[in-house]
Amino acid sequence: MTEFNTVFLNGKWLPAADAQISVFDRGFLFGDGIYEVLPVYGHHLLRLDEHLERLANSLDEVAIRNPYSQQEWRELFCNLLLQNNAENCAIYLQITRGSSGGRDHSIPSDIEPTVFACVNPLPAMPDSVKENGVSAISREDIRWHRCHIKAITLLANVLLKEEGSAEGCNETLLVRDGNVSEGASSNVFALINNVLVTPPKGPELLPGITRDLVLELARQQPDLAVEERILTESELRTATEILITSSTRELYPVTELDGKAVGNGKPGAVWSTLFAAYQAYKAQFQA
Ligand code: PDD
Repeated sequence: MTEFNTVFLNGKWLPAADAQISVFDRGFLFGDGIYEVLPVYGHHLLRLDEHLERLANSLDEVAIRNPYSQQEWRELFCNLLLQNNAENCAIYLQITRGSSGGRDHSIPSDIEPTVFACVNPLPAMPDSVKENGVSAISREDIRWHRCHIKAITLLANVLLKEEGSAEGCNETLLVRDGNVSEGASSNVFALINNVLVTPPKGPELLPGITRDLVLELARQQPDLAVEERILTESELRTATEILITSSTRELYPVTELDGKAVGNGKPGAVWSTLFAAYQAYKAQFQA
């Protein structure tokens, strides 16, 4: 049970235990919906415009009506933080296609989206991760071909991640047709011959908001070459550093891949520089 108890559901503010949706909601029956996770530092929603733009794109791609304007979303999120007296947290937002009172694959024309938002804790990076990094496994990317959409349909991600967890790993890195796409719940960067490489945006991966911010920060480093290009699985295995990014984990160093040390098996200099740059970027929003 979370410390943040007030949730938003279809225009109402409710204690989490009282929030209910129909068993015929298409999110429940088909995984027919879209979500966002927005990190909040102090009271500042990091890269809010970018999250709202990705939300609008995801909804558009699956033809779910965006129920609110940018300004209405902003007000809703501020209200959610106020109602929960929350800071340094993560907002979870989910919009499903809604319920038509039955189960039918065909999409009815007169259906109202279900809108749900709540606040989750955003734990600080554990010291063990800063000191030792995390381990990862690699697996074939068995997901669908529209991974740029932030869909709630995450069964493949969940099962892939679980394969990593079963081996004591923090993440599962995904490979499709010999190329690295992303992690089960993160984007991937690798240091190859002193160049920081991350796969380009496209249907194979989620356009991560943290990925874009880390790219921006990396490009500000005078001695760091950065490329958005295809990253092959064999290159990944020669990487001297591997980093994963997400709104909830920021920027983790991966120091072991499939049981083998990455570089010298410790968080590397590029991770350390970018992590410091990320903290400095955040600090401007935390009083
Ligand atoms: N997931 N790729 C996948 C498959 C993800 O699930 C996520 C984040 C990312 C990173 O995106 P961003 O930097 O915008 O958080 C990449 C969120 C945090 C989640 O599902 O909880």
